[in-house]
Amino acid sequence: MIAPQVRPIHPPLTLVRPPPDPAAMLSALPIACVLIDAQNRFVTANPAAEAFLTVSVSQLRHLALADLVGPDCALFGLVAQARRDETVIIEHDVLLESPRLRRSGVTVQAVPVTESRGSEEGMSIMLTFQDESAARALDRHLSFRNAARSVASMAEILAHEVKNPLSGIRGAAQLLENTVGDCDRELAILIREEADRIRALVDRMGMFGEAPVSRDAVNIHRVLEHVRRLAQTGFAAHLRINEAYDPSLPPVWGNRDQLVQVLLNLVKNAAESITDSVTAQGEITLMTAYQHGMRMAIPGQSRRVHLPLAITVRDTGPGIPPSMRDTLFDPFVTSKPAGTGLGLALVAKIIGEHGGLMEVDSHPGRTDFRLFLPVFPEETAGSAPGRP
Ligand SMILES: Nc1ncnc2c1ncn2[C@@H]1O[C@H](COP(=O)(O)OP(=O)(O)OP(=O)(O)O)[C@@H](O)[C@H]1O
Ligand SMILES: [Mg+2]
Repeated sequence: MIAPQVRPIHPPLTLVRPPPDPAAMLSALPIACVLIDAQNRFVTANPAAEAFLTVSVSQLRHLALADLVGPDCALFGLVAQARRDETVIIEHDVLLESPRLRRSGVTVQAVPVTESRGSEEGMSIMLTFQDESAARALDRHLSFRNAARSVASMAEILAHEVKNPLSGIRGAAQLLENTVGDCDRELAILIREEADRIRALVDRMGMFGEAPVSRDAVNIHRVLEHVRRLAQTGFAAHLRINEAYDPSLPPVWGNRDQLVQVLLNLVKNAAESITDSVTAQGEITLMTAYQHGMRMAIPGQSRRVHLPLAITVRDTGPGIPPSMRDTLFDPFVTSKPAGTGLGLALVAKIIGEHGGLMEVDSHPGRTDFRLFLPVFPEETAGSAPGRP
């Protein structure tokens, strides 16, 4: 799902052997892929698709989409839209159901094969089916709201308790600014600015309050740079943080302070996962990319939202413990002795209020938290409340 605009993090590999032919690569691909023609008849499928659909490729060649799923399946709309708009369409949580097949929570991508454009037969579509964390993360993400409300009153008390010590910290930092040398002044300013940011957050919405926040054009690279600086002067001072940015990214439609909060939480988790692991070797990579033509359907909404800005926080830590995967975004879920378990709960809430999506892909050695956010609409002067 990472768009090709992302600068490679490692130098490209030099191939010492001739590459395998494309058919062999498709066969080896662990993602279910099928090709359908303009009449929605199956043309071919890879072995992963045979296993996923429980139909052999020789059988599939005699079938059409309508033989495999019921007439009201979302797949038909998806394919039609991909063909009409000539763009990649992704839909989460699709139900594939017929007497011969039952799969729920499937993420489907419909990719128009543009080479077939204008051919006599019409445009073919490649479909991929994935039953993995993206869909489950999305589910959790969307069902998070109720859980967030249950901690709202607790958050109000917490916010109240945070304000007093915070003004002390701010005052002390301000005093230091005027007395320390140039080198330390930068740190004192950082403390004051961070105290201001926390106070602004606490004042405006409480940590889990329901008040709408204003959104404007936000340069996400400045936000990431700020977060990287904070991390490297504090909790991630010992870690390497790589950047792989698409510099042409348009501004995000968001709230700057909240996006700092989100990315700080994700980078902090990434740093903690590496530090807490036995090897303590590792690095964090911050990535941005523009996903052309990417539209997502949100369960329960007929409208497909355009969320082309992808921001990824990757770490090389041990991955999310399997026992936590289903409750990751719930408040108070933590594996850390001093953790509150509120970090990801707050991230999910803020991204939800931005009308964005989040997905998690985690294996030992590589964990990606990926945010999808809307672009700032040119015609908007700003200050629209951020309700999806
Ligand atoms: N990048 C990651 N790698 C591995 N596990 C992670 C990662 N991010 C989150 N987790 C797991 O998810 C749990 C919940 O994270 P969350 O940020 O909500 O709370 P926390 O980090 O434990 O506490 P707090 O954020 O309040 O300090 C973590 O305790 C950890 O087990
Ligand atoms: Mg955390």
